[in-house]
Amino acid sequence: MAVIIDGKALSAKLKNQMKEKVEFLKTTGINPCLAVIIVGENPASKVYVNNKKKSCAELGIESLEYALPEETTEEELLKIIDELNKNENVDGILCQLPLPSHICEKNVINSISPEKDVDAFHPENVGHIMIGDYTFLPCTPAGVMEMLKEYEIDVAGKNCVVVGRSNIVGKPMTMLLLKENATVTVCHSRTKDLASFTRQADILVSAVGKPGLITEDMVKENAVVIDVAINRLENGKLCGDVDFEKVKEKASFITPVPGGVGPMTIAVLMKNTVTAAECRKNK
Ligand code: GUN
Repeated sequence: MAVIIDGKALSAKLKNQMKEKVEFLKTTGINPCLAVIIVGENPASKVYVNNKKKSCAELGIESLEYALPEETTEEELLKIIDELNKNENVDGILCQLPLPSHICEKNVINSISPEKDVDAFHPENVGHIMIGDYTFLPCTPAGVMEMLKEYEIDVAGKNCVVVGRSNIVGKPMTMLLLKENATVTVCHSRTKDLASFTRQADILVSAVGKPGLITEDMVKENAVVIDVAINRLENGKLCGDVDFEKVKEKASFITPVPGGVGPMTIAVLMKNTVTAAECRKNK
């Protein structure tokens, strides 16, 4: 039976550390501030944005919410981002993805000032991550790395398999694991015989968004299994990609959904916002 990695507890611990930093920053006249933009009515996005706002409030970080209607034009959105880029009291800007299909995500990501890009989605920040020299860590992959560190899971020399190649998770996850000297294999929708790769994994990270994708027979005995996906089932319950009940009997460590990676993403977002505020202070 695996150790269940407690993302909620670790997130609370990291957020507490950030709370102290926020209190200190305030004594120096810097009030950390995160602008959160959401366009449209995607129910999952609404939940994520609410959780981000709630965390800001817990930590004493000011949050500015821009809840824009579905029919907002790209031009209108870019104008708001431009104003936020210029606003010296705003440290971080986050535009929740996905955006409605009439708005080009690339244009929006590219318009956010790299110094305020707390998601680390801007090509300049992606380049820093690629080189292994960064100010902002990509929130979800960095949250996974924090979990591995907390549970003293050494990744150096391990076979790590990342399932999913998104710009948000799969690709940056690969880079962070590589930086810590893992041997990394990336699998995706066109991979032939996925199980033949996942069975080799000492550390398996799944970030696809397909309930039941990772079954017990696809996991090596005593593997570390990290489930990044958050899927909502028809009965309203949340689950990841991994068949948790069966895989937990075989793995050495496993993350639950909910209560695993999800809370860590927010903790790293708070960390990035504090980092941006510290950069403002040191300007
Ligand atoms: N949509 C899903 N995950 C994320 C995230 O980490 N940041 C943003 N901005 N949008 C997302």
